[in-house]
Amino acid sequence: MAHEETYRRLDELRRAAKEGGGPEAVKAQHDRGKLTARERIDLLLDPGSFVETDAFVAHQCRDFGMEKRRYPGDGVVTGHGLVDGRRVFVFSQDFTVFGGSLSGANAEKIVKLMDTAMKVGAPLVGLNDSGGARIQEGVVSLGGYADIFLRNTLASGVIPQISAILGPCAGGAVYSPAITDFVFMVERTSYMFVTGPNVVKTVTHETVTSEDLGGAMVHASKSGVCHFTAPDDASCLLAVRTLLSYLPSNNLEDPPATTPTDEPDRSCDKLDDLVPEDPNKPYDMKVAIREVLDDGAFLEVHEHYAENLIVGFGRVGGRPVGVIANQPAVLAGCLDCAASLKGARFIRFCDCFNIPLLTFEDVPGFLPGTDQEWGGIIKHGAKLLFAYCEATVPKVTVITRKAYGGAYDVMNSKHVRGDVNLAWPMAEIAVMGPKGAVEIIFRKEISASGDPKALEEQKVADYREKFANPYIAAERGYVDDVIFPRETRAKVARAFSMLRTKRDRNPPKKHGNIPL
Ligand code: HXC
Repeated sequence: MAHEETYRRLDELRRAAKEGGGPEAVKAQHDRGKLTARERIDLLLDPGSFVETDAFVAHQCRDFGMEKRRYPGDGVVTGHGLVDGRRVFVFSQDFTVFGGSLSGANAEKIVKLMDTAMKVGAPLVGLNDSGGARIQEGVVSLGGYADIFLRNTLASGVIPQISAILGPCAGGAVYSPAITDFVFMVERTSYMFVTGPNVVKTVTHETVTSEDLGGAMVHASKSGVCHFTAPDDASCLLAVRTLLSYLPSNNLEDPPATTPTDEPDRSCDKLDDLVPEDPNKPYDMKVAIREVLDDGAFLEVHEHYAENLIVGFGRVGGRPVGVIANQPAVLAGCLDCAASLKGARFIRFCDCFNIPLLTFEDVPGFLPGTDQEWGGIIKHGAKLLFAYCEATVPKVTVITRKAYGGAYDVMNSKHVRGDVNLAWPMAEIAVMGPKGAVEIIFRKEISASGDPKALEEQKVADYREKFANPYIAAERGYVDDVIFPRETRAKVARAFSMLRTKRDRNPPKKHGNIPL
């Protein structure tokens, strides 16, 4: 055969690149309950679709004996492939090579991939499993991180960026995932922190494990850094595929439509009985969300964080929508700092990527208390307001019960460019709840009365009769229609269908100054 030796060399190099850190390191990786970088890519992408880039790149470090330890690919596998037939770019850090640490060469591979993903307009998925900066390379590695951070920022709002944390992610390395749109973490095998347990012990004298400091559930429920958790690598990668099914490839495309499998006009009879007769009783808003969405399918984002606000993706008539909903079953659905942050970030993501917004509203107001005021509920609540005001995608609201005070304005009211605002007949739209209102405006009259309790009850009943309904708002056109709960899916589907060609824009500017 011609060129026998030449071809043999290529074969050998390819094999070496596939081996990563070698069989022992691969065994150690499996023993930790983790898959290898390549096994992960195989699970993420459609079978046989992966095209690898830069498999032969090696590091250029000549210190600490590194010149004798060179692996083709240098600890990160990069390339592109398909997810449900759509192009996706992926990098997968290979913990079996120098602990997946980031060298200059390794960063250049990622940067090249990001630049191509931006030009092509396809999502970027980062599979993170790394000991951080390649210690032997010093500032070259730090520079590599900064090159990635810059591209994460420039790509933000242009292509969807998803990070899966499948092992360690520590120090400044956490800031690349933090800039991306969604962070997935695997329970027990992944962690994220800026400074690890040893530094924490030295500085604050706290004793804490990696899991308690920065494990998946900690970031999913306490810090909100993580949007999705999964029990293992395989289910995490499957969940990434599911998320991608709702997203367009870039900001110039519409989200992918599917052939509807659920009648858009379907009556939601169950919803007629959802809201309790007693306005102080809770109910589960997720029932309403699932009833209205196609086939009851709802991909909840941030499920364990700020549970008083629900956000996530679904479809109506086969087209993706982003759902934002108060949850009366948690904190009576009040808005607090965490819920405001959660909602604002989600709304801004949807608006970047042309995903219409569907809001379900039952909110008694912002949560009172020193915790909230000192925690900055003013600026955090303002973020949610800003995000709703700024969003130009189709925006539909369903007020299921309470819409009180500032929270009425914030939650996609007509005044902040809600396109179609619907209310159920038991909706209460007012400056505040009847009891609070009566205590303020009739305080003197009630205390001077012979039977204050009876008078207060009377005034509360009057107030409820007069103001705690949707018809005053409907008279003004602040709600477009008052509907039976059972009609919600049909009305929402028609609203989005009507809004499909909506165009709206904000005044030209460099960028707004969202109250961070
Ligand atoms: C070079 C590294 C490395 C690193 C791990 N390795 N981290 N090599 N640079 N940062 C190598 C190890 O030497 C070892 O090589 C192999 O990877 C596996 O590591 P182990 O320690 O054996 O694995 P394990 O016990 O599972 O521990 C994993 C670990 C630990 C917790 C990640 O390796 C560790 O603490 N690494 C250092 C983490 C760190 O401080 N990084 C810098 C953070 S600061 P051999 O050859 O023995 O198999 C940072 C700044 C970013 O990243 C700045 C951005 C602005």
